[in-house]
Parts: sequence; structure tokens; C-alpha cells
Amino acid sequence: MKPYSDRRAVLLQHMQSHGGGVAILSTNQEMTRNSDCFFPFRHDSYFYYLTGFTEPEAVLVLVAGKTNQSILFCREKNPEREIWDGFIFGPDAAQQQFGFDDAFPNAALQDKLPELLADSPTIFHTQGHHSHLDDITQAAISAVRSRVRSGILPPQKTIDLHSILDEMRLFKDSSEIALMQKAASISSVAHRRAMQITCPGMFEYELEAEMLHEFRRQGAQSPAYGSIIATGPNACILHYSANNAKIRDGDLILIDAGCEFDSYASDVTRTFPANGKFSPAQKTLYDLVLTAQSAALEHAISGARYLDGHNAAVRVLTQGMLDTGLLDKNKVGSLEDAISNNAYRQFYMHGTGHWIGMDVHDAGNYRDPKAPAGTDEKPYRTLEPGMAITIEPGIYVRPAEGVPEKYWNIGIRIEDDIIITRDGPVNLSKDTPKTVKEIEAAMKGK
Ligand code: GLY
Ligand code: MN
Ligand code: MN
Repeated sequence: MKPYSDRRAVLLQHMQSHGGGVAILSTNQEMTRNSDCFFPFRHDSYFYYLTGFTEPEAVLVLVAGKTNQSILFCREKNPEREIWDGFIFGPDAAQQQFGFDDAFPNAALQDKLPELLADSPTIFHTQGHHSHLDDITQAAISAVRSRVRSGILPPQKTIDLHSILDEMRLFKDSSEIALMQKAASISSVAHRRAMQITCPGMFEYELEAEMLHEFRRQGAQSPAYGSIIATGPNACILHYSANNAKIRDGDLILIDAGCEFDSYASDVTRTFPANGKFSPAQKTLYDLVLTAQSAALEHAISGARYLDGHNAAVRVLTQGMLDTGLLDKNKVGSLEDAISNNAYRQFYMHGTGHWIGMDVHDAGNYRDPKAPAGTDEKPYRTLEPGMAITIEPGIYVRPAEGVPEKYWNIGIRIEDDIIITRDGPVNLSKDTPKTVKEIEAAMKGK
């Protein structure tokens, strides 16, 4: 439980540096799927980051005062309910196991929260993140205000916790990196498995099942996001989710799927030929995307600007579009023109990556938080050791006039998960077959 209590201590220090106050965070509530069934429960990432506690309906209150306190509000033990739904810690066991200073049943929040907020200078809150917590907090503030005639004041200031916690979450500690490595390694095996099992005639959902099989077989709790299994033209739909088409001989298959292991995401994409061999046109575009990824990777280093990798990938891809005739020089102009007039966006319309961590699109500011307030366009921030990013260039060719037909309906993305370190990028998903040679060899091994 040490990483969690260490993080609470860091947050309490931040709160003290703002003059102290009370922080309130909540995990998620169960969500109805239909009738009396719930969606599989996933805890709130901010709450989990500070507690390690995975039960629904819990609230964390941190008090930065003369002495600091961490207080958990959670479900009561309930032997009857536990017969149906499983183990519940209850406040006493939760306090001991998770190292809180105190713990109470949720029902106590109504009385305790106004007591804790009375005469506290500042409330630290994730406003708008959970409407049920906004309601609880407003009710508590109203309860304090109703006692104003006895000289008690509610907090006079509100500070958004996101800005503090997002900055903390952006830098992964060694326990987080170990979990991300585990998640990425499982995903690598799953991608290899999908390549090995694929034959024309199968359906996309069969490959989805193979991925899920490997995730669960190795102890990952779930996919980290909706798996994209896209054959042929479906690969040109960026967030394709139907996963129900038949795979045809000659198709390229794009799989963007990664597991979540102990609350940490992986996000890996590979593209491979259904019949085990890239056609010349597929290989040309595949090697172009791979070169763009290598170019972006060179900027996954401490001191580079966040957008440097994207700019490098765009340069390589755009030059390739001109060389292959995807873009017509006579219409779009030079390389510099095609970049500045966004012509390349016809075939590459997304960014080259994002922060990754507990959330696949993880918390963290992409712009320099130290840029002076009021700056119109803050510069992109500088990469530093401990940050985790994806690098995922692609190319997506929809049929269109003037576009060489041999490239129609080819969609390619190559995505890896990278940790920035003092010694250069560490590729967590490096064991996933990636070059044409590696992919064709892996597919022959079936
Ligand atoms: N799988 C979501 C993404 O690549 O951003
Ligand atoms: Mn991604
Ligand atoms: Mn992805």
C-alpha cells in the first residue's frame, strides 16, 4: 500500500503549500446495464491512484490542517449482501489494510463532511467529475453555511484537484512502470497470437476473441479500451468497433487492442496481411508508416518537445505520399506546402500519440504548465523521464479520384507504448512483431 500512502502524502504537501484545507474525491458508482445487471465495475483512476481501493461507492477525504489526515468512507460490511455479491472490506478492515487514519461507513458522510469543512480555508475538489460527489459536497457546504451565526464559515476558496493530480499522474513511478510493462507484454503476446491464427474466411470477432483469451489467460482484468479489429476498408475507420466483418484474402487487418493489468493500460496496434504476405502496394505503405514511427521515436527523449515526434512523422509520411502519388505534387506543391496546407491530412488525420497510464488516454497537460498565464498558445511541454506516451502514426487511403487505385482501402497504423528515460526511450511493446519480415515470419509460424 506504500505507493498510495506516499501519493497521499505528496498531495497533502501540495495542499499545505496552498494554505491547507480539505480534499474530497470519489470513486465510481455501479452503472446499470439493463434490468438488474450492472456493467463490469471499473474504479475511478484518480481515486485509485491515492487509495488502491477498488470497491464501488467510496469517498476519500484528505485534511491538510495542523495534522494531516486521510479518511475513507466506504460500504459497510454486509454478510447478507456478501453472499450474493462477494467480499466487502467495511471501514475497519479497509482502514487497517489500506493505511487510512480513519474510516467510516458512507452513511456517516452526511454528518462528518460538514464537521471537516467547518472553518477549513479551502476545498480541493474534482468539480464536474462526478455529479454525485458534487451533490454531496454542495450539501455539506450548505450545512456548514447554515451554522454561520455561530461564527463558523465554509471554505472560502475552491481549488481544482485535477491540476495537481494530473501533474502527479504524468510522472510514472517504478511500480507503475512495472505494471505498464506487464500490460504491454501481455498485449504483445496477444497480437502475435492473432497474427498466427488468422486466415482468410475468419471473422473479425474471432480475432477479438483470441486477443481477449490471451489477456484473461495471463491475468489481465479487461481490455483497456474497445478493441479495434478492422479488416480491409474497415481499417480506414479510425474508431471502428463493429468487429463483425469477414476477412478476405488480400485484406490487411489492423488490430488496435491492449489489455489493462492491475489498473494500467497498454495500447498496441499492428497491421498485417490476412494471407500472411504483404502485397507490393501494402508493403510500400507499411514501410512508410514504419519509417515514420522510427522518426517519431527518435524524439521520444528527455528534452524534446511533445509535438516534435508528431512533426517528424508527418514529414516522413507526407514525403511518402508525394513519392507514391497519393498526393499530386502539381496540386499540393512541395513537401513544405503539403505540410503547411494540411494536404497530408487526407491520409493522416490524427495525432501521433498521447499520454498513457491508468487511462489509455491518460491524465496530463500537453502544454507547458509553467508558461505565463494568459499566453494565447502555450508551447507544447518538454518530455521528461517518467512520462509515458504512445507513438502511433498511420496512413488511411479511402478511394478517391486521383488516388492510385492500388492503394485504395489500405489502412495501416503501428503503435507502441514508450517510457521516457534518461537513457532514451524504452519501448514496452517491443516484443510485438513489427517489421514486414517479423510479421511474415510470425504468421508462417502458425
Ligand atoms: N486505442 C486508442 C488509441 O490508440 O488512441
Ligand atoms: Mn493510442
Ligand atoms: Mn490504440
